[in-house]
Amino acid sequence: MKRTDRRQASIGLLRDYMAGRIDRRQLLKSAAAAGVLLPVLSIMRGASPAFAQDASPAAGGEAGSTIVVPADLRTDLAGATIAWMGTSSQDADLPFNEAAIAKFTEATGINVNLINGESETNLRLQAMRQQFAAQSSDIDVYQIDIIWPGVVAEHAVPLQDQLGAATDAMFPGIVEANTVDGDLIGIPWYTDAGLLFYRTDLLEKYGVEAPTTWSELEAAAQTIMEGEQAENPDFTGYVWQGKAYEGLTCNGLEWLVSQGGGTIIDVDRNVTVNNETAIAAMDRAATWVNGISPEGVTTYTEPETFNVWTAGNAAFARNWPYMYSASQESEATAGKVGVSPLPKGDGAEDTSAATLGGWQMFVSKYSENQEAAIEFVRFMTSPEYQTSYAIERAHLPTIPAVYDDPAVAAASEFIPQLKPVFEAAVGRPSAQTGDLYPEISTVFYQQLNQVLSGSKSAADAAASMESDMNAIFEDE
Ligand code: GLC
Repeated sequence: MKRTDRRQASIGLLRDYMAGRIDRRQLLKSAAAAGVLLPVLSIMRGASPAFAQDASPAAGGEAGSTIVVPADLRTDLAGATIAWMGTSSQDADLPFNEAAIAKFTEATGINVNLINGESETNLRLQAMRQQFAAQSSDIDVYQIDIIWPGVVAEHAVPLQDQLGAATDAMFPGIVEANTVDGDLIGIPWYTDAGLLFYRTDLLEKYGVEAPTTWSELEAAAQTIMEGEQAENPDFTGYVWQGKAYEGLTCNGLEWLVSQGGGTIIDVDRNVTVNNETAIAAMDRAATWVNGISPEGVTTYTEPETFNVWTAGNAAFARNWPYMYSASQESEATAGKVGVSPLPKGDGAEDTSAATLGGWQMFVSKYSENQEAAIEFVRFMTSPEYQTSYAIERAHLPTIPAVYDDPAVAAASEFIPQLKPVFEAAVGRPSAQTGDLYPEISTVFYQQLNQVLSGSKSAADAAASMESDMNAIFEDE
């Protein structure tokens, strides 16, 4: 087929799909049969701007073009207006979620104002707490981090009666994490787990295998970095989140668990972090700073990691799954990115560990439009929305069945492949610490950040962590 014919065939299929004449499965089957699976997928992902420009908006290519609105949404609330403190204006997911809102409004008549949410999770919690303290009805729907149900439960509209049935199809552990004193206070929207990203082209160029242990990662990062720096002085080996904030707790937990150093606090709320293996794991990470990682990594959150990575300036990165779709949108990394579980320690017993993250939809009890807010949450957590969020933005569904959708595999193979890794993700100690969790985590990441920047030994930091965490429990 000529290029123009292929384009026509792809657009025709996407039109049929958008108009509901064929479903997603039929779309991918027909696209494969016509030899146009790749262009169709890249349009669906918005990954091929040149091609997408040729397609009319209705034919796809625009962010959110694969979103299908569930048929059973209420239409009797038309005219209501709600506000969602949601996607940050800096976020690469913004166009997708704006498109999702537009489709929701078209189907239900409910208007949704997207209020810019902070991209850093700690700051987002702070902003929510201010709203709650004022019992403000300005925001109807929030997105809440998986570590917050115990912190924000008292401000929630319990959702079990209206949305409980939809959670039967979701991962039970995540639903459980959103249940506080028998009330379902958040509906799982997407889940998260820490992953290793690597540059497939550079592994090949330097003849190194994708690392499975931290030692292998250190060696591979060093080799590639030394080679690339000859041409590109900005090139670094490994980027991750080292700033003193919640993301460092996630990274630190992975270092500890993957080398046998425990989970900071055990299930019975004993502080376990002051042990030799955990101390060695923290010391090890400190050697990366100004070595295989840039000195500035101690100030990195996810967006800084993302920027270095998508500019093509790192061999390896630790981030959440969303970075996969973003990598396909940057010329420096498109088609050159592999994804695997994070490395583990060298011990025979050591296993890779991914911190469990993820976000839920939450309705504020101060909302004056609770019915419309609940309808929006129904849409945003539906299998239809979650399927598209996985296809276009590589966000992990909270519904196990969505992992088996062939379109998800076609867009991001790692999602079904790593499902067991995601299911085994390690929770931060938020369940056993409840509303004390933010304070506990603050102690951990502040002390750990000092170790990384060389101002404190890991042994001293671990001792401080232990005494400060115990003091928090004693003050309760
Ligand atoms: C991601 C995770 C969230 C975590 C945050 C840390 O957004 O989904 O659970 O707290 O990163 O930066």
